[in-house]
Amino acid sequence: MAPRPVIIDCDPGTDDAIALLLAFAAPEAIDLRAITVAGGNVGLAHTLRNALALTALAGARVPVHAGADRPLLGRYVSAEAVHGADGLGGIALPPGGAPAMGLAMDVIRAELRAADMPLTLVGIGPATNFALALASEPALAARIGEIVLMTGAAGAGNVTPAAEFNAWSDPEALAILLGCGAPVSLVTLELTAQARVTPARLAALSACGDGLCLRVACDILAASLAVGAHPAGVPLHDPCVIAWLIAPGLFSAESCAVAVDCAPPEMRGRTRIGPGEGAKLLRRLDADGFFALLGARLSMLV
Ligand code: BDR
Ligand code: CA
Repeated sequence: MAPRPVIIDCDPGTDDAIALLLAFAAPEAIDLRAITVAGGNVGLAHTLRNALALTALAGARVPVHAGADRPLLGRYVSAEAVHGADGLGGIALPPGGAPAMGLAMDVIRAELRAADMPLTLVGIGPATNFALALASEPALAARIGEIVLMTGAAGAGNVTPAAEFNAWSDPEALAILLGCGAPVSLVTLELTAQARVTPARLAALSACGDGLCLRVACDILAASLAVGAHPAGVPLHDPCVIAWLIAPGLFSAESCAVAVDCAPPEMRGRTRIGPGEGAKLLRRLDADGFFALLGARLSMLV
């Protein structure tokens, strides 16, 4: 099968960094047309620099575009406590190239218009860039094959008791994506809780090779493990989305209904997920298979 054309919208971010490296390592599944970047885990200046640095590190020839530095309506709040002030847990990378011409929302629209087959939109940060593109040209939703999002939770959140970070960062944008008419697949906190990096898994990953990208990935994961106490390991959120594109057999999925609350403030960003139609909920993950995939793929990079 031909690789599917994909745009990744991200906010690197330690787990976004691993997700990007995994995507670079799967050319048979992912034809990565563009990387678009938003402010999220850290401010846009850092997330853009990190996306450019990771792309250069892997030698990937993918344009990286700057996007929104804040949500549609709410106040921008970072997650520096989790990802470090630089977004990569203090792991310094050689600088990458310059951002490509064009703002994220314009590039997303242009790619959708030009695509020779339905495009997959991968969202692993606040949904702002995709929402700006689709709100300004809603008919383009018909050219989307699948929107795959790391967002939301059926139960407790990780930034407030009610909300997961990406959904909470821009719930109005998420509502636009959920209502655009394109098929949406959801990677929630319940799914990513099954993808926990532990010291043992990190050691196994590290033993997979000695390439630069694998080393960097392991350094970033070690930095994540060092933040706070994680007796059960650290959930590796965003790479789960990429694994879904590469190896869907690692997952079980079922249809669901989903909506996002924008108010009141204490419920802002809560995703209401229940039985029904309208979206696909990724439910179970073969975690050992996921980490085996990660090791096998990251060790293929430089
Ligand atoms: C999501 O929020 C960010 O901190 C991570 O990069 C991930 O995309 C998890 O809630
Ligand atoms: Ca992210």
